[in-house]
Amino acid sequence: MRILVTGGAGYIGSHTLLQLLREQHDVLVFDNFSNSSPEALKRVKQLANADFEICEGDIQDAGRLDQVFGDFNPEAVIHFAGLKAVGESNEKPLEYYAQNVAGSIELLKVMQWHNCRRIVFSSSATVYGDAKYLPYDEHHPLQPANPYGRTKYFIEEIIRDWAASWKVASAVLLRYFNPVGADASGRIGEDPNGIPNNLVPYISQVAVGRLKHLNVFGADYDTRDGTGERDYIHVEDLARAHLAAIDFTATHTGCDAINVGTGRGATVLEMVNAFEKASGRSVPYQIGPRRDGDVARSLAAVEKAEHLLGWKAKLDIDDMCRSTWNWQSANPEGYRQD
Ligand code: NAD
Ligand code: WQD
Repeated sequence: MRILVTGGAGYIGSHTLLQLLREQHDVLVFDNFSNSSPEALKRVKQLANADFEICEGDIQDAGRLDQVFGDFNPEAVIHFAGLKAVGESNEKPLEYYAQNVAGSIELLKVMQWHNCRRIVFSSSATVYGDAKYLPYDEHHPLQPANPYGRTKYFIEEIIRDWAASWKVASAVLLRYFNPVGADASGRIGEDPNGIPNNLVPYISQVAVGRLKHLNVFGADYDTRDGTGERDYIHVEDLARAHLAAIDFTATHTGCDAINVGTGRGATVLEMVNAFEKASGRSVPYQIGPRRDGDVARSLAAVEKAEHLLGWKAKLDIDDMCRSTWNWQSANPEGYRQD
C-alpha cells in the first residue's frame, strides 16, 4: 500500500518506517528535519534493504503537500510530524499551535483534495491530564495541562470533525504512553538534541558517560518507592501498533482514539535498576524536588487496542533498556558521529 509518513525521520517515525518497509509497503517520508537527521533514513534503508522516497518539506506548506500528494497519490497517511517538548511549548505556545495544529489542518485539507481518506495520528496520553482514576481508559476526561498537550487535544477534535463531515474518512488517534527503546540492531534510536528531557534517554546518557548523574524528580509520590510511575512502551511494539491501525482504517470509517501502552507501570528507580542490569554500568542518581506538571502515576487501559486492532505489547522494560543500551553504546553521540 502507498503510505505517506509525515515526520518519518524522527524517533518513532523511523522505527515505524522500518516495519512498513519490511511489510513491503510503498512509503514516502515527508519531513522538514527540524528534529531529526537524514542519517536515520539512510540507516533505515540499509536495515530494510529497501528504498523509499524522501521529501523535505513542512506540513504547514499546503502547496508542497499538494505537489507531493499529486505525485505519490498515497492511500493512507501516518502523521508523526510535530513539535513535542512540553517545556518548550510553555515558552513558545504559538509555534506549537502553528506547527502542530495549523500544520495538521493543512495536511487534512490536502488529503481530502486528493481523496486520501485514511489517517493514523500520533496523539499522546498527555491529553488525559491529572488522573481521575487509573488506568486511563479512552473515556477518561481530557484535560491536558500544557500547550503541547492541548495541541494534541485540539488536533484530535479537528480530526474527529473532519471524519464526521467526510463519511468515507477513517482515522485512528493513537494515544502513546511513554515510548522508549530502540531497534534491536542498535542502528536507529532516540537522539534528542541537547540535554534530554525524558527519563530513559537521560539515564542512557549517564550510563554512557555523557552526563554525570540522574536527577530524580521527587521521591515523595504515592507510589511503591515514592518516585513517579509510568507505562513505558517499547518503540518496536508502538511501531507495530501503527501497522495494525493502518489495517484497521481499511475496513472501518469514523474516528477512534486508542491507547498504546502495556498496562504495566515502572517507577523511576525501577527503570534505573533495569538499565543498570541491561548495561552493566552504574547509573548514579540524586533525589531532587518534583518537576512542575508531573503526575504521580500514569497507566494505560489496553483492552481497546486489543479489541479493535488485535494489538498487544509484547516487550518488557528489560527489552526496552537492553535495546536502548545497544543503541546508545554503539552511537554515544547519536547520529552525529558518521
Ligand atoms: P521526533 O521529534 O523524533 O519526530 C518528529 C519528526 O517530525 C521529526 O523528524 C521532525 O523533523 C519532524 N517535524 C517536526 N515538525 C515538522 C513540520 N512542521 N513539518 C514536517 N516535519 C516536521 O518525535 P517522536 O518522538 O518521533 O514523536 C513523533 C510524534 O509522536 C510526535 O507527534 C509526538 O508529539 C508524538 N508523541 C511522542 C511521544 C514521545 O514520548 N516520543 C509521546 C507521545 C506522542
Ligand atoms: C518519566 C518519569 C519524571 C527525567 C513526557 C511528556 C509526555 C509524553 C512522554 C509526548 C517522571 C521522571 C524524568 C529526569 C526524572 N511526550 N524523570 N528525571 O513526563 O511521563 O512524559 O514524555 O507526548 O507528553 O510529558 O516522561 O520521561 O519525562 O518522565 O526523575 O531527568 O521520570 O518525573 O516521573 P513524562 P519523562
